[in-house]
Amino acid sequence: MLIAPSILAADFLHLEKDVETINRHADIFHLDIMDGTFVPNISFGFPVVEAIARKAEKPMDVHLMIVHPEKYVERFAKAGAAMISFHYEAALEASGKILDLIHSFGIKAGIVINPDCPVEKIFPYLDKADYVLLMSVFAGFGGQKFIPETLDRIKAVRKELRRIGRNEVDIEVDGGVSPANSKDLAKAGATILVAGSAVFKADDPAEVIAKMKG
Ligand code: DX5
Ligand code: ZN
Repeated sequence: MLIAPSILAADFLHLEKDVETINRHADIFHLDIMDGTFVPNISFGFPVVEAIARKAEKPMDVHLMIVHPEKYVERFAKAGAAMISFHYEAALEASGKILDLIHSFGIKAGIVINPDCPVEKIFPYLDKADYVLLMSVFAGFGGQKFIPETLDRIKAVRKELRRIGRNEVDIEVDGGVSPANSKDLAKAGATILVAGSAVFKADDPAEVIAKMKG
């Protein structure tokens, strides 16, 4: 299991400390980009991503919660992203083209859906995606409660990936993830766990990361 702590829950006055926690104990930097339009919240942008890139020793995973994701793929790729995902709900039929665009920068491409989007909507894109990001809360805010129906959604995507012979595709889960549900998520077929509050609001982030790794 790969653990991707979400910088959204980091201490922005002491960002270097939390960057070092990820370098030392976790696998991936999860960076939430919100535009106040696709989601009702604004997070951070290029200056923060570029600052983290200077210190990051693990790959940066950019989760775009924005309208017109295709406009910003190039800048995030040039800022050092190793993985970029965008919401199917923001792209619809353009999803295939955006996966191609992300691949054109030589990085991994992911497609994301909110909890109310039927998983079947993204099945046509599973032949191109390197990973699927299943939201286990509605995108927009950290600190929300995990939606348990996510487990069946992971199983359905994993089953479809097996059916098409692409079981190597990662399933990333984001929202309300903690040591309380990490085992169930692994069993259902998830391979990357995003966790913000559970990691950075803990007294011992390294211990929480180790528990989720299993
Ligand atoms: C929510 C973001 C998440 C968020 C997760 O829109 O995509 O990555 O930071 O935070 P927690 O782990 O606190 O639910
Ligand atoms: Zn996220």
